[in-house]
Amino acid sequence: MIGIFDSGLGGLTAVNELKAALPDENFIYFGDTARIPYGTRSVDTIRSYALQDCRFLVSKGVDAILVACGTVSTNALDTLRAAFDLPIVGVVEGAAKKAAEIASRGRGRVLVLGTPATVRSGAFGKAVRDHGCEDVRSVACPMFVPLAENGYTSLSDIAAVEIAREYLEPYRAYAPDAVILGCTHYPLLGDIIGSFLPGSVLVSSGAEAVAELKETLTRSRLLFGGGGKGRYFVSDGVDCFAENARRFLCTDVDDVTVTDINSY
Ligand code: DGL
Repeated sequence: MIGIFDSGLGGLTAVNELKAALPDENFIYFGDTARIPYGTRSVDTIRSYALQDCRFLVSKGVDAILVACGTVSTNALDTLRAAFDLPIVGVVEGAAKKAAEIASRGRGRVLVLGTPATVRSGAFGKAVRDHGCEDVRSVACPMFVPLAENGYTSLSDIAAVEIAREYLEPYRAYAPDAVILGCTHYPLLGDIIGSFLPGSVLVSSGAEAVAELKETLTRSRLLFGGGGKGRYFVSDGVDCFAENARRFLCTDVDDVTVTDINSY
């Protein structure tokens, strides 16, 4: 069974891809809705939240963990790998590789969008450069997370469009070949982001991580099947999560349970 977590809804961008790539694998999703956002917090707090999230998933018997959160992947992956003896995959590597490939066929430019903690870490930029693309810029877009969590995601949502203008208009002339959506919430605002950066390929970090997860699970012989059943846990606001998740996954999400994450 696969464990997946994020601070909230964003990791569902990876769940959609997971269901397509590994349709028979059971999974447990945890959204830390009581403590969102992670992206404006200190490295120490991000690490301590991430350790609790993984302890919770391990207590449910998962065989591997997908960290479907850019903030945790860029600030706490080593901490988690040192603490738990099971495969742990983050969202940096797959997205960086894909973006560098796209840039190598264009003008060699990549733009990383992420939370303040993700941008501060420099991890996506380093990974893109490791894949041979030197011209990487990064911009923090903290307001995108509450917009996504509250459903302000369409081009008719004027407030969301104006906030995106503030973050992205300065990069229109840069015209990146690829834009890494380095926070897993950001694909929900894909239409808005794309409207400011026409001609750029948007790379979903959560979705790209699933290929690495599949390869890791296959190599470690950790694919057990089970019918593809998903269970969802949150640390607060079951109804709100179920409603948003239904809209986003385009399927009913009945099995949502609240858990006291502070006890892990
Ligand atoms: N979805 C998360 C990420 O990928 C976290 C957003 C937040 O909690 O600030 O970074």
